[in-house]
Amino acid sequence: MARVQLIAGNWKMNLDRAAAVALAKAVVEQAASVSGVELAVCPPFVYLDCVGKVVAGSAVALGAQNMYHQPNGAYTGEVSASMLCDLGCKYVILGHSERRHILGETDQQINKKVHAALAAGLSPIVCVGETLEEREAGRTLAVIREQFEGSLAGLSAEQMQKVVIAYEPVWAIGTGKVATPQQAQEVHGELRKLLAERYNHQLAEAVRIQYGGSVKPENAAELLQQPDIDGALVGGASLKADQFMGIVAGAKF
Ligand code: PGA
Repeated sequence: MARVQLIAGNWKMNLDRAAAVALAKAVVEQAASVSGVELAVCPPFVYLDCVGKVVAGSAVALGAQNMYHQPNGAYTGEVSASMLCDLGCKYVILGHSERRHILGETDQQINKKVHAALAAGLSPIVCVGETLEEREAGRTLAVIREQFEGSLAGLSAEQMQKVVIAYEPVWAIGTGKVATPQQAQEVHGELRKLLAERYNHQLAEAVRIQYGGSVKPENAAELLQQPDIDGALVGGASLKADQFMGIVAGAKF
């Protein structure tokens, strides 16, 4: 079965309530004429409710940018998977490089979150990616393998099918330096090989692997036409409806 591409906007810590609602409305409106591609927006926690109301019943899914692995309890400041479900989330981004590198999240912590998200019925978008230093040292595929093994440990084939992997080279995030389609395809191909080795060929062919890192309308089509690239996780360009939809226009279906 062909993989449906997923274009997701990671709004990060941007916008205010009025701007978030306006952006969601514009995306929903423009998404009405799109078919064959799945869209999602991932606003900050505090705007999930108001944005969720805008996208409810539309072609645009709701996602969160993080969560905590415990179901409830005395964890001041944290948000659980069931709370995200309660607000209508379908997706949750886990292990984004900003959380790994700025907030110190480890593969082990990310793995706990992945299990908790799946148990609650969410589809995690699990990010992996090497730093510039690691790429220059020729360690890209080793780092990807390590993050794949660590962040996605202990998942059954059935669980893995609900996971989306996002390859986001750290050096390409928010820098304007996009990976070439060949650089991205190489890593995506490796991730699919890892899936086939751990599970089987059929499952490897079913799991979606997004690319993220400075995706813009101008470079989207070339990336999204690669055989193992199944969508995009978009930061900066997802904050403007026209740019986000320009990326969607480059999707293959
Ligand atoms: P960017 O961010 O598109 O601004 O590079 C991508 C991401 O962090 O998901």
